[in-house]
Amino acid sequence: MLVKFSVLIGYLSCLPWIAWSTDGSLNMMLTYLHAVGVCILLYVLFFASATLAEQKTNDLYGLRHILFNVELPPKTMWFNMGLWDKKGIRFPTACENLVHAVVSKMDMKAGSSVLDVGFGCGDSCILLAETYHCQVTGLTNELSQWKIAEKRVSSQEHLRNKIQLIHGSADNIHQWLPPTTSFDYILSIDSAYHYNTRWSFLKDARDKLNIGGVVGLYDLALDDSFANGTRSPFATLFLKCICKAMHVPIRNLVTVTEYKRIVSDLAYLNVQVQPLDRRVVFGGLANTLAQLDVTTKQYGIGVSLSNKLFLKASRFIFDVLAKSSIFIPIIVICRKEGTETM
Ligand SMILES: C[S@@+](CC[C@H](N)C(=O)[O-])C[C@H]1O[C@@H](n2cnc3c(N)ncnc32)[C@H](O)[C@@H]1O
Repeated sequence: MLVKFSVLIGYLSCLPWIAWSTDGSLNMMLTYLHAVGVCILLYVLFFASATLAEQKTNDLYGLRHILFNVELPPKTMWFNMGLWDKKGIRFPTACENLVHAVVSKMDMKAGSSVLDVGFGCGDSCILLAETYHCQVTGLTNELSQWKIAEKRVSSQEHLRNKIQLIHGSADNIHQWLPPTTSFDYILSIDSAYHYNTRWSFLKDARDKLNIGGVVGLYDLALDDSFANGTRSPFATLFLKCICKAMHVPIRNLVTVTEYKRIVSDLAYLNVQVQPLDRRVVFGGLANTLAQLDVTTKQYGIGVSLSNKLFLKASRFIFDVLAKSSIFIPIIVICRKEGTETM
């Protein structure tokens, strides 16, 4: 690592020389070439090293054939933070765990109707249909994810009549759902903090619930220290950067206490906001992403530069979130008024 940094620092130290000793178009050209050089150097030093190491061996086959064994498309395409409550579990199991943790608190009955909002590539819809025997309507705003989920569902006979997937936004659910449709349950896993706003979504969701119907969310609340102004300007800046990058409207950032108050004001009953241990959510994901970085290199599986950056940035962010109190992972359960009819 030290050698890598020395090479980089050596290269970067050419920049002042370019700035002071040249001018005009020569200066512009050399600065541009230097920037391109930095990008190539960063890629070679930090991302392409394992691949290069492999090419140096004299083995006839090496490890390239491992790629032939990678199962594509994968059986699951989960995309939530996961609940890493046991040692050694894999990403799909942790993601399923998170859904089970929310659904078990909703006391979901077989044969019920469920609206699953922000369903990703459809894994939670499939779980609700197969394991909880529910009639599922999914809603997501991402076309690529909706298309792939549609393909997965329509290619399986037993799911076709149980799942209906809609491409639309949680920001205005009335626009996408037929006016007469209502649901026994509304679920949203790892998605509600994106909605613009979560509060107007919950207000609309209430209209779409049957009497006694239940909303269940896995969501994020803000640590109390941000509300009482005891955090450093650096921590506040980091929070703002994450929210900007993750498309989280600022009005969605509230503490657990405030969250509970707002949901109660929206006329929901039995409002529960249960904090989870952030190390069991963010920490588990950060460890798994670190492991993935190592194993893709170890087994010679090529990952594009943008995917590598995505992996590294995600790992960094979840590591910080696990170690410092910024966001609190929460499970939210609330019920529409009336006695339960389900
Ligand atoms: C972190 S992923 C969670 C995916 C899925 N629930 C899972 O457990 O795998 C967040 C999802 O929320 C969806 N999403 C974000 N904003 C949305 C909106 N306004 N309306 C509908 N879906 C939205 C994204 O498309 C994405 O699929």
